[in-house]
Amino acid sequence: MTNSGTDMRHHKKPIISPLRYPGGKASLYTRLRAIVRANELTSGTYVEPYAGGAGAALGLLVTGQVRRIVINDLDQAIYAFWKAAIREPREISRMIQKADLTVAEWSRQKDIYLNGPRDDYLSLGFATFFLNRTNRSGVLNGGPIGGMDQTGKYKIDARFNRETLVERLRLISLYSKKITITNTDGLNIIKRYSKRENTLIYADPPYFEKAGSLYLNSFEHAHHSSLANCLNGAGEAKWLLTYDNVPTVAELYPDRRREIFSLNYSAHRVTKANEIMVFSDSLVVA
Ligand SMILES: C[S@@+](CC[C@H](N)C(=O)[O-])C[C@H]1O[C@@H](n2cnc3c(N)ncnc32)[C@H](O)[C@@H]1O
Repeated sequence: MTNSGTDMRHHKKPIISPLRYPGGKASLYTRLRAIVRANELTSGTYVEPYAGGAGAALGLLVTGQVRRIVINDLDQAIYAFWKAAIREPREISRMIQKADLTVAEWSRQKDIYLNGPRDDYLSLGFATFFLNRTNRSGVLNGGPIGGMDQTGKYKIDARFNRETLVERLRLISLYSKKITITNTDGLNIIKRYSKRENTLIYADPPYFEKAGSLYLNSFEHAHHSSLANCLNGAGEAKWLLTYDNVPTVAELYPDRRREIFSLNYSAHRVTKANEIMVFSDSLVVA
């Protein structure tokens, strides 16, 4: 195969999520697609109990790899964004088109994000989106790209390409009837969907290390072990899990198949494989 063949494969990974997510898993699209096919789940439901930016889920849906997706996140702000994207795509798009990309507007949106009414999903969802696109690395409690004085090399609008973002929302809205959005603990979602046929669950919980600084609700050790109890007890279900590659993963999942991998795989660089996948016994690993 020529180099251009490799490039083609690379470009086939669709970028659909309007959210930037540190450690986002859109790049696992090709692998997940292979797993969906090997398990004959192309007419099934794909579930992300810890969805965040839901990049892989949306990629699989809009390319027709799965029929339905479930996007769950416990963070109310993230949930508000997804709900607004599905229910009010035109309004969100209008807000994107006319948003002022200034530090003053950033401060206003930050105030809505921190202090606004939690049940106004449109304003909370937009504030979440605005901060996600204008903050350094998309970290919601971080500062704006370029700094408060905007003297940095990149400015606050560096990641806010209105046309691209509106186009992604339009694409998602075409599939809104195929998307279920929920706001509960990931464990509830795993319990609910692990009993269903024709379903693939991909759990990407907050990592053991650094999770606290990246996500608003970081996991305690007790959460990690409850998750392990739940998944280890659901061997009939088809699930996979990713984590940072720390020894605790082997301790929590001693009897499951595991595979070390690198998220930032690049043909041009030597990268350290520092993530790990765990598979349920009934999953055909492809
Ligand atoms: C590692 S991130 C997921 C990243 C995602 N796979 C992506 O590609 O964007 C983990 C997510 O889990 C959410 N979360 C944290 N605790 C949770 C819980 N108990 N139940 C459900 N979601 C939770 C966080 O808000 C965060 O969005």
